[in-house]
Amino acid sequence: MDAVSRIERALSAALSHAGKAGGPPRLGKAMEHAVFPRGARVRPRLCLAVAAACGEDDPAAADAAAAAIELLHCASLVHDDLPCFDNADVRRGRPSVHRAFGEPLAVLAGDALIVLAFQTIARGAGAAPRRLGPLLEVVGAAVGAPAGIAAGQAWECEPPETVDLGHYQRSKTGILFAAAAMAGAVSAGAEGGPWRLLGERLGEAYQVADDIRDAAAEPEEMGKPAGRDVALGRPSAATSYGVSGAVTRLEALAAEAMAAVPPCRGAAELRGLIRSEAKRLMPASLAARAVAAA
Ligand code: IPE
Ligand code: IPE
Ligand code: MG
Ligand code: MG
Repeated sequence: MDAVSRIERALSAALSHAGKAGGPPRLGKAMEHAVFPRGARVRPRLCLAVAAACGEDDPAAADAAAAAIELLHCASLVHDDLPCFDNADVRRGRPSVHRAFGEPLAVLAGDALIVLAFQTIARGAGAAPRRLGPLLEVVGAAVGAPAGIAAGQAWECEPPETVDLGHYQRSKTGILFAAAAMAGAVSAGAEGGPWRLLGERLGEAYQVADDIRDAAAEPEEMGKPAGRDVALGRPSAATSYGVSGAVTRLEALAAEAMAAVPPCRGAAELRGLIRSEAKRLMPASLAARAVAAA
């Protein structure tokens, strides 16, 4: 079964627990709306690719780790779109969860997805108790304080002159990619540490690319609003370096991510995944300019 099918199956299985009869029906529907239809699923694909590179021997643990990472990502988007954060009406080309279900259910769906992520790891990696502790530690660090998603988003509540752009981006985005890579390794019984740098660089590249798209792409191209970073006064690579400076930074980070792939069986495939993601994330208008300039 290919990686995306495995991820979709693991996510459906996780959500079916949460949506069981007897619960408030609209909460289950709001959670589903946050997870399906899919986005790029780049984090769980990274997780499974690293598990494979480490000689995956426990597919249930790898699937659980990948699904948990994506559930946390989806939860972070639900909360990020709320009026008290980025106030975004559209996500993945459809109404954001609070636009479709109202703010209280969006807050609760995000909360329940976060909890579901850890329940998913407990269920999927329960048969490998030695892997369970490190998996929970790696994934927990990516969403909490002092340097996970909650911390990253909290930098938006500090005076802008005290915020370091790289640190903000590594916390709100980079560390979940690092956790995806490390959790893939840990789910296969390998050490997570050697995979951290690859995830960090790829994640930071991803946020720089997102900032470029926010500044330079069309909303239809992205399936979410554009121009939000300037409107909300968010620290952004496009604002700090200009669009072309940010493109240079993106290219450097993608190269660093590729160089950080440890020697392993699937190294060429992993580098291919990084290369195609860096290309995919470039707004069409800039990609056309890059081709014209080449
Ligand atoms: C969007 O992430 C938020 C960022 C951290 C840049 P993605 O671009 O991975 O969103 P989906 O999952 O594909 O919708
Ligand atoms: C990523 O930053 C937010 C999260 C960590 C959830 P953005 O606010 O730039 O992401 P988009 O542009 O809304 O997807
Ligand atoms: Mg946002
Ligand atoms: Mg953005």
